[in-house]
Amino acid sequence: MDDYYATTPGPELAEPYLREVLDSAGLAVEYVRAQGNTLYQRTDDGELPVADFAGGYGSVLLGHNHPAIVARAKELLDGGTPVHAQFSRHPYANRLAAELNRIIHRELCTDEPYYAVFANSGAEAVEAAIKHAELDRGMRVAELLERTAARRSSVRAAVADGTATVPDTVLSTLGVTARPDSAAERFALAEEEIERRARELTARPPMFLSLEGGFHGKLAASVQLTHNEGYRLPFAALAAQARFVPQDRPDILKEIHAEERGVLPEPAVVDGQVTLVEREFPVFCAFLLEPVQGEGGIRELSAEFAREIQEFCAAIDCPVVVDEIQSGMGRTGTLLASSPLGLRGDYYTLAKTLGGGIAKTSVMLVRRTWYRKEFEIVHSSTFAKDSFSCHIALKVLELLEADDGAAYRRAEERGEALRSMLTRLHTDFPDVVADVRGRGLMLGLEFRDQSESASAEIRQAAQGGLFGYVLAGHLLRRHRVRTFPTASAVNTLRFEPSVEVDDTQIAQLETGLRDVCALLRAQDGAALGSA
Ligand code: F0G
Repeated sequence: MDDYYATTPGPELAEPYLREVLDSAGLAVEYVRAQGNTLYQRTDDGELPVADFAGGYGSVLLGHNHPAIVARAKELLDGGTPVHAQFSRHPYANRLAAELNRIIHRELCTDEPYYAVFANSGAEAVEAAIKHAELDRGMRVAELLERTAARRSSVRAAVADGTATVPDTVLSTLGVTARPDSAAERFALAEEEIERRARELTARPPMFLSLEGGFHGKLAASVQLTHNEGYRLPFAALAAQARFVPQDRPDILKEIHAEERGVLPEPAVVDGQVTLVEREFPVFCAFLLEPVQGEGGIRELSAEFAREIQEFCAAIDCPVVVDEIQSGMGRTGTLLASSPLGLRGDYYTLAKTLGGGIAKTSVMLVRRTWYRKEFEIVHSSTFAKDSFSCHIALKVLELLEADDGAAYRRAEERGEALRSMLTRLHTDFPDVVADVRGRGLMLGLEFRDQSESASAEIRQAAQGGLFGYVLAGHLLRRHRVRTFPTASAVNTLRFEPSVEVDDTQIAQLETGLRDVCALLRAQDGAALGSA
């Protein structure tokens, strides 16, 4: 059956344009098998091993088809695990949530529970976080409006029975120009204005905050929190917008707050006079961030900016959503890349490696203080929380935690080996390589801009945004190494191999990268693009 489909010619119907792009960069090869840190490419007379530094965009930290995960998958399927048993007890989902909590509690030194809502992909977990945050904001708005309405009615009663007067300052603060004599009439005018403001604030769309360079998915709402304009702007009318904050700019946070904040005046009686108290209106829905930006060019959040964001969000009552979809699950040496930064998320999103490279699964975690149980009734998915994915994810956690966390240490140690090779390259080719960034097995190598290159091929590739893909094509064809540029920062190649990556494969990558750097130094575009 496999061979029938492989050999039957036919029109290209599955994303034909993407196929053309892959073809032009020499990346349109077919992989027929994957094991450990190696993918096997189909050739005319068999298969060819390719060292995999792309790692399924960060989904196979433990390696392709890890034997223990495959064995668990077979066991589950052979045992007839009830994949579809929606709206029943899911003890395995509960165990998975408990195990995630146990590890998170250890890393954050806390014991506050995080409740889990499961989904199927990274973007879907982010969408769940967006929806949960908006449900919560809506409920906080309703609570605020109810509280002020109750206070207004008691002040109205005090004005009506003559125990409180309404001074001019109340009306002038609200921009009301009329000055009727009767206190009741004056208070009615003030209330009318307060109600108008409440309606205006309630009608405003929620405000999300996100970081410049951030990537949170490509679904309708999550793409609006993804910085790349190419992905985001065509769909801007579909969902609520974010304000994008540059890294390490706490001053901009304060500026955005001053520009966007909403204030609802609330009357109170002090010494027989009506006064106004300012109540903060919940405008800010959530602040989303990646502790190490992936798709945006492998950029680490500094511990200091993390602390500033945490303090800022606490002060304005805005939950922090830490997107660990790419950086998490042990890739940087801890379950959460954010925990060594001292960041405590109100929400977390996890996906990719959670499914062990086999199951398509994701989870959104919400800290008890922020959790709204009502969300469970208004959000669901046919496929989420299924027995197969939960059991596979439990096996992934078991493998990460085995031998007192040997896999985390291995991610750190392999990351160091890879990083020191990249750093040597940077030292040897400072004219070609701009930077080495990242942590653990989430590393990036930024090349200097080549849009003014003396070589027409290199120049055109750089100007067309395809430079990184040309490099990836060369590395694949000539060196049997698979890597990709980060799609929103195409001068950066990213390296996210599995913990199975060995010194031989790192040396193979080094040979390839040294070849690429030498060709760039020589501005030899013809050799770079050739087979
Ligand atoms: N959040 C982060 C931090 C991601 O890196 C990704 C995907 C997503 C959300 C969306 O997850 O693809 O499962 O819907 N990153 C891939 C990448 C696409 O290229 O880094 P998804």
